[in-house]
Amino acid sequence: MSEQLKDLVRTHTCGAIREADVGKPVVLLGWVHRVRDLGALIFFDVRDRYGVTQVVARDDSDLLATAKRLRPEFVVAVIGPVEMRSAETVNPKLATGTVEIAAGEIRVLNEAVRPPFQIAEETSVSEDLRLRYRYLDLRGPRMQRNIQLRHRVTNVIRRFFDTHDFLEIETPILTKSTPEGARDYLVPSRVHAGQFFALPQSPQIFKQLLMIAGMDRYFQIVRCFRDEDLRADRQPEFTQVDVEVSFASQDQIFELIERLMHELFAAVGLGSIEIPFRRLDYSEALARYGSDKPDLRCDLAVEDISKAFVDSNFKVFRQVVETGGAIRALPISGGGTASRRELDDLVARAGELGAAGLVWARYGPDGKVQSSVLKVAGEAAVRSALELAGAGKEDLILIAAGDGLVASKLLGQLRLEIAQKRGWLDPNRFVFTWVVNFPLLEWDEASRRYTAMHHPFTSPIDTDLERLSSEPGAVRAKAYDLVLNGSEIGGGSIRIHDQAVQRRMFELLNIGPEEAKSRFGFFLDALEHGTPPHGGIALGLDRIIALLAGETSIRDVIAFPKTATAVDLMAGAPADVDSKQLRELKLRSNG
Ligand code: AMO
Repeated sequence: MSEQLKDLVRTHTCGAIREADVGKPVVLLGWVHRVRDLGALIFFDVRDRYGVTQVVARDDSDLLATAKRLRPEFVVAVIGPVEMRSAETVNPKLATGTVEIAAGEIRVLNEAVRPPFQIAEETSVSEDLRLRYRYLDLRGPRMQRNIQLRHRVTNVIRRFFDTHDFLEIETPILTKSTPEGARDYLVPSRVHAGQFFALPQSPQIFKQLLMIAGMDRYFQIVRCFRDEDLRADRQPEFTQVDVEVSFASQDQIFELIERLMHELFAAVGLGSIEIPFRRLDYSEALARYGSDKPDLRCDLAVEDISKAFVDSNFKVFRQVVETGGAIRALPISGGGTASRRELDDLVARAGELGAAGLVWARYGPDGKVQSSVLKVAGEAAVRSALELAGAGKEDLILIAAGDGLVASKLLGQLRLEIAQKRGWLDPNRFVFTWVVNFPLLEWDEASRRYTAMHHPFTSPIDTDLERLSSEPGAVRAKAYDLVLNGSEIGGGSIRIHDQAVQRRMFELLNIGPEEAKSRFGFFLDALEHGTPPHGGIALGLDRIIALLAGETSIRDVIAFPKTATAVDLMAGAPADVDSKQLRELKLRSNG
């Protein structure tokens, strides 16, 4: 039976009491965390968002009877004076670890069924179970920390943009398809049967319209929806810090975001990050790290060593170079001592990753070169390969041949795996980079046409404009990504503000005037009404918070996330709807 709170008022949270409070009568309200029943003496911990405090019940038989009823997750009120703990029960790991409450009264405000898992710092239960009982999972210290961190981060972001004259403006959730390239979530209209709203993949068009509307500086912490395959860093609904600025250059946007990140990291206690961030050309990122989101906590980078084999007897490599391919190498500092077994494992791993082969080379203890292709390639070519790769006496180089990009991607993947294994990806280091000069267009073999690499409103680089017709695939865009420790935490661009260029872009994307009109007509009309030059960016808030919290999955920084298969296990969504609702919407279910 539950008792009443009546006029009982909390005097302290469960994390607040200290030695200075000894002797004070206090009222604590919270959840029973753990009970230790010693017969004539019962200890239990009371927990709330702020911490845990130990309570002791002794002497009084009614009190002990109540304490004996307590089970984990009961909601209780504890009334009594603060006392020092006896020396042997002091817990130095707890902020409240030197004190306890000598219960004078315990009220059970609510009972609880036996929880499916214990609320603790570390839990070994499956993520599905945690998500099914998310409200219990959220009671645990890890999720409490993460959700509180999320609150702090959004607060800092709002304050930052406010002090820089930005307006937070809400944009519609029920809208029209937005061009971010994923599938839309659709919402049927009852009033206009057979017609659908789309949930926004981003507020892209609206934020540009806000620039046309003279709002000058906009930001929004906004939910976006994308029906795409999920991964640890992707959710079907996720949050962007969406930003757009009129009359801004790429440099000004970079500076703004660098200052935001600097402030953010300092505010959450992660120290002073180095700004400005490094800038890396997209083509260089791919060639040197095999990725457009390189993890630069590790210095290893892929080198082109094609020259070593141009004149060599090693026919396979020579032919690769002669037919436009490349030989690339990844030097691994200190890798020279790898055992045969480790080398075999690396070659096997390359095979698993789909590579036709992986070659290695290094200097032996006698200074002579060693390599898996020493016999066929010859000493001179191997030595030249080691030199071109910049390998020192203690280093190992891994060599891949073939299409340059494919070789870089393979070595890039091995680079990450080796760095991870060797502890070179320090979780307490934060290395940012801007990736710049993305291609404007991407060739889609399936539909045999170009698609926008970013989105169709991204501006080409001025000096590349003339190549728009002759060599569209080579045109670079004023588009950029922000990468932190190998994670893409933001992307943006300077936009097209000239209607003629926008039309040309639609032509290149094979979007005819009719289609352009029906999909984006309102936007094209708006462009004619005095559009300022403008640009912006959207940051992936969930990814940033996951990195700050040291979590590998964004699910751990979202209060109520979907599973990796896009379902809400707790609410049971998506779900069937009743046939009356479907009839009203003039929809039929085939399920
Ligand atoms: P983009 O599509 O690059 O750009 O998205 C911006 C950032 O949002 C994050 N993100 C995601 N996070 C979690 N789950 C997802 N499914 C997901 N998809 C994207 C990433 C990404 O860098 N309108 C443009 C921005 C602009 O041009 O201003 C846009 O949405 O961190």
